[in-house]
Amino acid sequence: MSRLKKKGVYMNIFDILYSRKSVRSYTGKSPSEEQLQEILKAAWASPVARARFSDMHLTVIKDQRILHAIEENMSRVVGEEVHPLYGAPVLILVSVRPAQKEVANNEYSSAAMIVHNMALAATAMGLGSCDIWGSIQAANGQADIVDMYKIPKDFVACCGIVIGETDETFPMRDIPKEKISTDYIG
Ligand SMILES: Cc1cc2nc3c(=O)[nH]c(=O)nc-3n(C[C@H](O)[C@H](O)[C@H](O)COP(=O)(O)O)c2cc1C
Repeated sequence: MSRLKKKGVYMNIFDILYSRKSVRSYTGKSPSEEQLQEILKAAWASPVARARFSDMHLTVIKDQRILHAIEENMSRVVGEEVHPLYGAPVLILVSVRPAQKEVANNEYSSAAMIVHNMALAATAMGLGSCDIWGSIQAANGQADIVDMYKIPKDFVACCGIVIGETDETFPMRDIPKEKISTDYIG
């Protein structure tokens, strides 16, 4: 928990928000069990649309065979060798039990909220993390990969986050005003 304390004071939420970034380079070392539990606690603290917590599911994947299968599948899809999980040692998959046939907007959004809570917690502890959507979506078409997740019946993998130790640092980032275009009305 060293990074939670900076110069004797707890990092405030703005330090975490402004230093978070997508990390795509990992040493291969896993987060400690304590760090992993803290990250999962952040996930459990997430808002979920209509409080449908029991329709969300997390899968902590350290099994390299599964991570390789996701990467190999994506390489096949794009037609060249790619490493969309960046050599990270852990993937936490977020799945949802859709209320309708297709995964709905609020269900994807709940999954994204959960992922982002985990990203902030990872940043707070000096761990690298990156949201993972594309290669999870691609792997959903492959029954052999989906089977390896062992997610409960009727759940669909939405997205995930890779987490691990990184040599990268987390300086405060410059956040340009209106990086996201913003209108003011009234
Ligand atoms: C919904 C969503 C899906 C994303 N999917 C991926 C992904 O599949 N692979 C990846 O490397 N980054 C992914 N990202 C990370 C974005 O590329 C990243 O947030 C963006 O480039 C801004 O960089 P930053 O996170 O460092 O601020 C995703 C982010 C979001 C919000």
